[in-house]
Amino acid sequence: MSNVHVMDHPLIQHKVSLMRDKETGPKEFRELLNEISMLMAYEVTRDLPLKTVEIETPICRAQTQVIAGKKLAIVPILRAGLGMVDGIMSLVPAAKVGHIGLYRDPNTLEPVEYYCKLPADAEEREILLVDPMLATGGSASAAIGFLKKRNCRNIKLVCLIGAPEGVARVQADHPDVDIFIAAMDEKLNDHGYIIPGLGDAGDRLFGTK
Ligand code: PRP
Ligand code: URA
Repeated sequence: MSNVHVMDHPLIQHKVSLMRDKETGPKEFRELLNEISMLMAYEVTRDLPLKTVEIETPICRAQTQVIAGKKLAIVPILRAGLGMVDGIMSLVPAAKVGHIGLYRDPNTLEPVEYYCKLPADAEEREILLVDPMLATGGSASAAIGFLKKRNCRNIKLVCLIGAPEGVARVQADHPDVDIFIAAMDEKLNDHGYIIPGLGDAGDRLFGTK
């Protein structure tokens, strides 16, 4: 069974609360998502392997640790996942970025794919699949399925808010994928929106409603 990491650091919780507030406009919403993504990246990358190198400090030669060159790819689920890319990239600037375009059919709540472009060597990279909202889990589960079809095996799912239903769906469909979220909410409403949630993340990011 995949592990679920809930990142309840006070700074993250504070910023998530600001994002939930319906009075928070697109500019602040984008800035907050960017900041939270950066804070989450710190924890998500905790297990990156290190290697020892020798350097010379102003005082003496020293053996010290650097990241062992493990390759990362950040893959946002369009649209709302785009809002998490820059924050993570600010900590891992050498990461490549892929895109998976999915929208949730408002009637069936089933994910519909419209775009997929991944780095050529995606299967050799650790993939951070990012989307702020994990509601029914249909979009995340389908996106992980696309990645696996392209032979990606090392995948972490990074979301802002998860509903228990979505977390359970990803755990059932993809028990090998660890899930990182900033908040675990109560449930879904009849339209598949997370309660209390923050509304439609894509619309709030891009001001489309
Ligand atoms: C939202 C969100 C997720 C999906 C979550 O995207 O960003 O991708 O819904 O719902 P699920 O877990 O039930 O699949 P949406 O379909 O609204 O598309 P958008 O980002 O283009 O607005
Ligand atoms: N997608 C969103 O943007 N918000 C939700 O609450 C559920 C799905």
